[in-house]
Parts: sequence; structure tokens; C-alpha cells
Amino acid sequence: MTLTGQKPTLKSDKYVFIKTYGCQMNVYDSDRMFELLQPLSYKKTNNPDHADLIILNTCHIREKATEKVFSELGRLKKLKLSALKKNRKVLIGVAGCVAQAEGEEILERARYVDLVFGPQTYHRLPEMVNKALKMDLSLVAGSQIIETEFATEQKFDELSTDSISPTNSFLTIQEGCDKFCSFCVVPYTRGAEISRPAGQVLEEAGKLVKSGLKEITLLGQNVNAYHGVSSDGKEWTLGRLIRELAELDGLERIRYTTSHPKDMDDDLISAHGEVPKLMPYLHLPVQSGSNTILKNMNRKHNITFYRSIIDKLRKAREDIAFSSDFIVGYPGETDADFAETLRLVSDIEFAQAYSFKYSARPGTPASGKVEVGEQIKSDRLESLQQLLNAQQLAFNLKKVGTVQNVLVEKHGRKQGQLVGKTPYMQAAHFCGNEKLIGSIQKVRILDGFSKGVSGDIVNNDKVYDIQKPAKIESKEIYS
Ligand code: SAH
Ligand code: SF4
Ligand code: F3S
Repeated sequence: MTLTGQKPTLKSDKYVFIKTYGCQMNVYDSDRMFELLQPLSYKKTNNPDHADLIILNTCHIREKATEKVFSELGRLKKLKLSALKKNRKVLIGVAGCVAQAEGEEILERARYVDLVFGPQTYHRLPEMVNKALKMDLSLVAGSQIIETEFATEQKFDELSTDSISPTNSFLTIQEGCDKFCSFCVVPYTRGAEISRPAGQVLEEAGKLVKSGLKEITLLGQNVNAYHGVSSDGKEWTLGRLIRELAELDGLERIRYTTSHPKDMDDDLISAHGEVPKLMPYLHLPVQSGSNTILKNMNRKHNITFYRSIIDKLRKAREDIAFSSDFIVGYPGETDADFAETLRLVSDIEFAQAYSFKYSARPGTPASGKVEVGEQIKSDRLESLQQLLNAQQLAFNLKKVGTVQNVLVEKHGRKQGQLVGKTPYMQAAHFCGNEKLIGSIQKVRILDGFSKGVSGDIVNNDKVYDIQKPAKIESKEIYS
């Protein structure tokens, strides 16, 4: 539906290609864009050459992410020009966080871009597309459209919520961030923190479960700061929301991401011990192991606090696995600060983690500071990643010999092979019938690798020898 309530339709089918960069929130947003475009007869294509509308849903988090967008736009210009020669109009749109932060610059630098719209305005996409379609076909640079104001709450009222995947779905419950870490663009691109009303979330989750999917991942830039109003007039915390969602018949797994350590309240921590549907895996970014750096980053938590949260969570749920984000080479980071990061990682033992070199972002408080040398950043990143990779492999190997419930997601690369996720977010490869996609299967883990595990579906008639080699040469799968 458009803002005016009309459902515009076109005579023949058209194709839309959306390329998604960045975080899960962008993945969720891209799915919503596909749905919004259906009434305009746009079908999804994975080939930009066949598309009548191409949207880049962009990420601004690091400089590289933004650069990628401009180089992709260069390629799209050629595509648009060659289509025009055949009298075919291709619309190009830039959505997401780069659009929000650098909308005017995009229109200036790339005159052939027709639409620029931020994360809070994409519910008006049908209107924008209709307007752009009326523009003069002969022009490469039409009258460009830009929509980048903040209107988040209204956005969610206008979105439809069909799940694209048959097994699991993201569900945005919170958006924006008020934390203002000194390195981060998110508070500027996604705006102030807002929580969706609890009733709206429960309704959307109910619909998703009815459509047959078994896992929901609650999304937010700061998801555990959730404080949505409910029909009882009270504000629900994330812990409360999870407990209510767990009552939904048919929903088997609940996850949430991304959390801030400061917002891990006691109720949420105890939910990990009390709600079996809440999966034993938590992404809890720490960024650095040095108190000095954390203070300079304006992270609002120190290392003692972070460790205490991890301890409480392990007490609540013994087998909980952790993942985290790290930034190396933040301005002023010394060798001693970095050594503290390595020490923290060694102590905690992460099941998975993401690590990045600090990248100065325009407009953020850290951006003017004297930077750590590029070589130092590279060296630190390498040694941190070596340690994290070793921990990831060790975690995966630890599960060898156990039987895990695997939510089967899709075909693997090899014939007859399926891939799914264990409760700990490990990719699990095994052989099985494709009819199993969408179900939860017991899989005996026979081998572990850096990026996942492999095994066999548990067959009650079979005697297992966990020493026998895995049927699947998983090393090839991951290469
Ligand atoms: N809301 C989450 C993270 C959002 S951004 C949190 O509170 O942690 C995802 C990750 O990108 C961050 O955790 C951080 O590790 C990384 N990141 C953000 N800004 C960055 C920058 N300027 N340079 C390098 N990495 C950055
Ligand atoms: Fe960015 Fe910090 Fe907000 Fe996370 S908590 S989105 S890192 S400002
Ligand atoms: Fe990137 Fe925006 Fe997500 S900057 S990480 S797409 S919130």
C-alpha cells in the first residue's frame, strides 16, 4: 500500500534486483522491499541484467562498505546506458545507510541514480517508483527522487510481513541507537532508538509461525534495549517479550541480535536458563579488552562488567556459546591495550567472532583523532583473528560425538547434501532427503571444521561409531 492507500499496478511483469550489504537489519528491509513492490508487478530476479529496477541496499559502517557502493554504481551506469539504447528503462535506487548519510552526494556523483531513500522511508517505495516511471525515458539522469527523513514508527505500520525463507525469519523489533559509541555511524543513519509495540511484534511472529517457519531472530541495532508498549499499558523488556513469544505453538527457536552488554538485564539473563526455545548462543559485542579504549570509545561498560555478564549467563545456561565484535587499532590503542584484548579473548573462549580494523567515519566523534598506523592495525587484526579462528575450530570440534538438533535450511553444495544450523549457530552439513528442509533433525556430529560441523542424521536402527570418517568431505565444502 502507498501512503495514499492506493495499490498501483502495471500491465506486465517487471523484474527487481536488490543487492543487500551490511547487517541483518538490511536483509530484513530488503525482504520488505520485495513485498512492497509485488503490487506493482515486480518479480524478484537474481540477475541485474534482467532487472527493470535495481536497488542497492547499502551499509555505511566502514569506509570499505561505502566504497563498494560507488564502484557498484559505476557498473550499473553501463547497464542502464546499454538498456536505454534498446529503449528499455532501468531504474536505479540506492537505499540503506549510505543513502541516509550521503544521499545528496550520491545524486551529485551519480547523476544516473533515480531514487535515493533512507532506512526510514522505504515504505514509500511504491510511490517513489511510480513517480520515477513517469519520467522521460530518454534521460539518463531523470528528475532524481530523495527521501531521507526519519519516520520509523509509521514505517512499520505500512509494511507487510510475509517470510521469504521457509525455515527462519528475522523480525525487527527495535531500530536505531542512542548509545553514540564514538566510532559508529548507526545513531546517525538509523536515528534515535525506537521499539515496536509488543502487540505488533506478537502479531507478526504469529503470522510467521502460521506460515510454517520454526525460528525467529528478533532484530535491533540495540535489541536488548527493547521497551515496547503492550496492550496492558506497560513497557515490555526483551526478556518479557521472549517469554511471551515462547508460548507460540509451532515456534521452536528464538534468537536475538545485536545486544549491548549494558542492556543485559537480570530478567533477560535468567530467560536463557528458563526458556528452552531461547537458543544457547549470544552475540555480545565487546569491541576491546582495554578499559582505557572502552572509555574512549564511549562504550559505557568496562571489562569487569562484561566478564560479569558472561559469568551470569554461563550460570543461567551452562552450554551457552558466545560471539562478539572487535575493533583493532582504535585511535590511541597501544600494544598493551591490544594485549588486554587478546587476554580477554583467551579467557572467554568465543564460539565465533567478527573483527575489524578501525575505520574513521565522517561525522563521528573519533573521526578527527590521530590514527594508529595501517601496518600496526593489520598485524593486530591478524593475531586476533588467528586466536579467534583457533577458538572457533576448538568449539566446533568439541561438539564431535554429540547429537545436535539441526534446523534444516537448504541444499548443500554437493548432491544429496543438506545444511542447517545447530542451536549454537554452527553450520551443520549432512546427507538427507530434501523433504527434510524446514524440519528439525537429530544429527550426530562426526567432524568439526573452522566454519562448521558435519555428521549423519540419527537413525535409531544404526549403531554409531563416532570414530568413523564423516561421509562428507567437509573440507571441500568450505574451501
Ligand atoms: N549495535 C552493535 C553493533 C553495530 S555495528 C553493538 O552495539 O555493538 C557492527 C560492528 O561493526 C560493531 O560491533 C563494530 O565492531 C563494527 N564497527 C562499527 N563501526 C566501526 C568503525 N568505525 N570501524 C570499524 N568497525 C566498526
Ligand atoms: Fe553503534 Fe554503539 Fe549503537 Fe552499537 S551501541 S549501534 S556500536 S553506537
Ligand atoms: Fe551497516 Fe546500517 Fe547495518 S551502517 S551495519 S547497514 S545499520
